[in-house]
Amino acid sequence: MVRTQVAIVGAGPAGLTLSHLLHLEGIESIIVEARGQDYIESRVRAGVLEQTTVDLMVQSGLGERLLREGLVHHGVWLNFGGQRRRIDFDDLTGGRAITVYAQHEVVKDLIKARLDSGGQILFEAEDVTVEEFQSEAPRLRFRKGGAEQEISCDFIGGCDGFHGICRPSIPEGVLAVYDRTYPFAWLGILAEAAPSSEELVYSYHDRGFALFSMRSPGVTRLYLQCDPEEDLERWPDERIWAELLTRHSTGDGWAPRQGPIVQKGLTGMRSFVVEPMQCGRLFLAGDAAHIVPPTGAKGLNLAVADVAVLARALAAFYQSGRRDLLKRYSETCLRRVWKVQRFSWWMTAMLHRFQTDNAFDRRRQLAELDYVTSSRAAQTTLAENYVGLPLD
Ligand code: APR
Ligand code: PHB
Repeated sequence: MVRTQVAIVGAGPAGLTLSHLLHLEGIESIIVEARGQDYIESRVRAGVLEQTTVDLMVQSGLGERLLREGLVHHGVWLNFGGQRRRIDFDDLTGGRAITVYAQHEVVKDLIKARLDSGGQILFEAEDVTVEEFQSEAPRLRFRKGGAEQEISCDFIGGCDGFHGICRPSIPEGVLAVYDRTYPFAWLGILAEAAPSSEELVYSYHDRGFALFSMRSPGVTRLYLQCDPEEDLERWPDERIWAELLTRHSTGDGWAPRQGPIVQKGLTGMRSFVVEPMQCGRLFLAGDAAHIVPPTGAKGLNLAVADVAVLARALAAFYQSGRRDLLKRYSETCLRRVWKVQRFSWWMTAMLHRFQTDNAFDRRRQLAELDYVTSSRAAQTTLAENYVGLPLD
């Protein structure tokens, strides 16, 4: 049996960042991950980092490539009713910004940082189970390369995403679930085309929402609202471009630049929270505890905020025997989680077409977009949430 202080399930942004922050506090951890390294280093996900996330990464020594290659955006565009209007983060938030840097690049940097400082990440672990976490001596069991393995630890970080095993291992009756699904999804593409706008464009259109984003100076990322059961076979490249150009049409002549489509996928839309985010010595963080719809790109940022709270609480425990921060972990995280849930839901509701909406609702949405882009108070609300609320 192997021993460590904190056993972590999942090498996504949550698990890797937790392990990194613990290392900086002199706390040992082992990460157990179901997939292989290549797989998680190339998985295409969102790519917008809040100022809060960037600051945390830079302060914890992960800023080198991020500051060199990340694209700093000082605003975003909302496009509706034939007008494109800009929300100026710089002016509204006193110089805060977002950085476009793909999630798998964050994951690569984190894996490198862990491995360079002797951290252990056990990839391709099968049948992981978490045990005895309501006692002082939790354990992790799994198989790797056909052999049974066991890790004993003081605490378990449940960072295994929405479909992981940590949350379902918590006994029935402990967790309350708060859930909402949306009657649409996003069809997302990556195109080899230099982005035609320096900043993101969120378009509200009668045919549905569309988003213009990017990954690098040569790669554009675009999304279209579609049916959750959409069959990608029905979306040849020409149809995707035609729909994108229609929904992104503006009065000022701006349009996304086209190029070869190199990746296509569907992203589901869901809001989900469990309370509490802990049970005994098992602490859930990131997608294991909550999901946001992608409008506003908060998933990764929320995961990083959770583990910052957890790492601080664990450091207080190991340095001075304090248990109060660990006890309050869930409460501390949930205050932020619910604010971010509200923001992601609000952006989604403001920008998408709901089939049950009538002409009144459409007018109401246009009025909201007009208000949000013309009142300084409303613009500030959007901007301060978008660039990231401060960590508690
Ligand atoms: N055993 C071990 N590892 C597992 C298991 C399991 N049973 N189940 C899942 N995992 C791994 C997954 O393979 C994945 O690498 O846990 C990791 C969870 O990572 P993410 O899903 O990326 O979740 P998280 O780290 O919380 O990051 C949240 O990721 O889902 C996106 O958009 C979301 O940006 C958000 C961010
Ligand atoms: C992305 O680039 O993937 C992205 C950007 C903004 C969002 C969602 C996703 O709101």
